[in-house]
Amino acid sequence: MSAFDALKKTLEAEPRTWLVTGAAGFIGSNLVEALLLLNQRVVGLDNFATGHEKNLAQVQVSVGPSRWENFRFKRGDIRDLITCHTVCKDVDYVLHQAALGSVPRSIEDPLTTHAANNTGFLNMLVAARDAKVKRFVYAASSSTYGDHPGLPKVEDVIGKPLSPYAVTKLVNELYADVFGRCYGMESIGLRYFNIFGRRQDPQGAYAAVVPKWVASMIRNEPVYINGDGETSRDFCYIDNVIQANLLAATSQHADAANQVYNVAVGDRTTLNQLFEAIRGLLEPKYPHLADFKPVYRDFRAGDVRHSLADISKARARLGYAPTHRIGEGLAEAMDWYVQDLS
Ligand SMILES: NC(=O)c1ccc[n+]([C@@H]2O[C@H](COP(=O)([O-])OP(=O)(O)OC[C@H]3O[C@@H](n4cnc5c(N)ncnc54)[C@H](O)[C@@H]3O)[C@@H](O)[C@H]2O)c1
Repeated sequence: MSAFDALKKTLEAEPRTWLVTGAAGFIGSNLVEALLLLNQRVVGLDNFATGHEKNLAQVQVSVGPSRWENFRFKRGDIRDLITCHTVCKDVDYVLHQAALGSVPRSIEDPLTTHAANNTGFLNMLVAARDAKVKRFVYAASSSTYGDHPGLPKVEDVIGKPLSPYAVTKLVNELYADVFGRCYGMESIGLRYFNIFGRRQDPQGAYAAVVPKWVASMIRNEPVYINGDGETSRDFCYIDNVIQANLLAATSQHADAANQVYNVAVGDRTTLNQLFEAIRGLLEPKYPHLADFKPVYRDFRAGDVRHSLADISKARARLGYAPTHRIGEGLAEAMDWYVQDLS
């Protein structure tokens, strides 16, 4: 039995209380759903800066009325310390996802990104420390590898950040580490690579590549590739991220806590390959995609050229074993997008 299967059995037998910040967002709403399906008690916090009520409405339908009763939601902002204290009360584990994502957004508006991602993060650390939570798991980012050219990315070899967003995520790691040293607090940072899956927002200037391209292809709108399309990423399906979070919160490995871990698959896919994979999955339903071509334009400021994770640390210390490679994830996600966007 995998470490994750064993954990699910334990959690179902002995439910715990979890706080998910960013609960109305893509990753947060998926964590809420997975935890409720495992019969856990869940507190959610979100200010709807980029999250949506409809994400929580979908979770409500998916988990059914009896599990939904185990969910308490607070609309609030992590930039407010009192709110953070309120939601941390009586919580066993924190899964901190609330932040403003997107490299371009941070370049255009570094102050707002800083306030959510650093002031908000520090508030959450203080509140979690004061509430004596068992462990604080937080969304870190592969952007922390910055300008270091080495591949695959190994956790302790990073370069200089290439955007204000990347700075905020590096600062998260520094603060979490110092809270371990100064207050004995247990934390784990999960450096997400490019995550995709159901409920990832296809709308807006800062949408991530997978949902944006799916929506554009379905609507027969142009798909833009920044650069020559040979830029590569380690795309990671949401189910792998759920697994990593739950394992990180509960791992009893002696060296698990106060560390950061890559969360990815360990596969490299170029944007040209991604384009073809999505086009191929959608074509049977959307015949106009038979000879659909991308539009190439300039490289984008702040983007790294290649990204590929070494996931051996998460495998060894958390028991992380990704269940979905990119093809399986895209196939699952596509059904959801087709339904949601049609
Ligand atoms: N999606 C990815 O590929 C990826 C990669 C690396 C890191 N991450 C990180 O993962 C986390 C979740 O990202 P996501 O993709 O689900 O994005 P998302 O935008 O869907 O979710 C973020 C959620 O946080 C909420 N939020 C933002 N500021 C807040 C504030 N001040 N107070 C309360 N709530 C606030 C938003 O309303 C939203 O619901 C973020 O920390 C992000 O930086 C994501």
